[in-house]
Amino acid sequence: MNKIKIAEGVYWVGAIDWNARSLHGDNYVTHHGTTYNAYLIMDEKITLVDTVHGQFVDEMMARIKEVVDPDKIDYVVCNHIEPDHSGALPAVMKIIPQAKVICTLRAKDGLLKHYFSNWNFLTVKTDDEISIGKKTLRFIEASMLHWPDTMFTYIKEDALLLPNDAFGQHFASSQRFADEVEESIVIDEAAKYYANILMPFGQLVIKKIEEIQKSGIQIETIAPSHGLIWRKNHEKIISAYLRWAKGEAKKRVLVIYESMWRSTEKMATAIVQGIQDGDIEAVLYKISATDHSDIIKEVLEAKAILIGSPTVNNGVLPNIAPLLDDLKGLRPKDKIAFAFGSYGWGGGAVKTVEEKFKQAGMTIFEPGLTAKWVPDADELKKCHELGKRIAAEVKK
Ligand code: FEO
Repeated sequence: MNKIKIAEGVYWVGAIDWNARSLHGDNYVTHHGTTYNAYLIMDEKITLVDTVHGQFVDEMMARIKEVVDPDKIDYVVCNHIEPDHSGALPAVMKIIPQAKVICTLRAKDGLLKHYFSNWNFLTVKTDDEISIGKKTLRFIEASMLHWPDTMFTYIKEDALLLPNDAFGQHFASSQRFADEVEESIVIDEAAKYYANILMPFGQLVIKKIEEIQKSGIQIETIAPSHGLIWRKNHEKIISAYLRWAKGEAKKRVLVIYESMWRSTEKMATAIVQGIQDGDIEAVLYKISATDHSDIIKEVLEAKAILIGSPTVNNGVLPNIAPLLDDLKGLRPKDKIAFAFGSYGWGGGAVKTVEEKFKQAGMTIFEPGLTAKWVPDADELKKCHELGKRIAAEVKK
């Protein structure tokens, strides 16, 4: 196993989870696996920044041993307590029980309640600095990016930012740097990560990036806790984050639907045809055929979100409900929203979808379209015309 150096005296000592296919209670599908990134800084005070998922402690230890005996580690920085980064911490602390655990106050509280061990904590706040020899670590609290305990660690002398989950991607690779693989795939995974994890915190993302830029901190490398490290292309991920956080979408319409007997599907198809005929890009997803977290990524990039469901028990089909709840939590910014769906004995689905749109802070384009039983030619024409009106709105 070769040492993996990412800067002078800084080593990647994380783990590659090639087979991870879902995370976060199976709500996030990871088509490309993931990595848990930990970083070892060799200086007078040897410092480990973050650990890995508990299942990968042996891999991390083996990588550390390639550089130094783990019992020589003086400091462990915990940027974020979620177990995919702190899971191996108890095993590390068993070897170095006297080592300082550097974290925010909230992280200390969280670690005590996760691992029930009163380690030698040193709590830090924004702008606190610790000299570890030739290098200086500066800490930046980043509350809600994405948990209240989160902080970034910055190594001044290397212009290296270690921002934990922020700027990360679930992407397993034998390579360590984003410029060593097909960039569009990495950006796509970063978009999915942003959409599913950070979308509700757009304002905080903008504020944090501006705060860092104003503070005069120079960044040459961004090394997140998942996926690949942004080296030559770090400006690209920062500008992508600003674009996503500001809600800047593509001129694209996302149509999502579920159907029992294909009536709502016919409506969806007619709407998509109308959007296409209005010269705007449309993408169509049937909920039951697509992973939920992939649809959330599409929400990020679309200007208009159309959701169709037939009525069941005066509401929506059950498998569309989690997406509606997710939208409420994610609060996508500046989206045009529209509901449609068929019904039989009684309606209700369109009203339910519209209520969820309002709760998500989305602007309803116009009252939803319904069709009784099977949409006839006139109803399908209305769907097509609606598609053209949506396209015209997106074009503005
Ligand atoms: Fe990658 Fe919030 O844990």
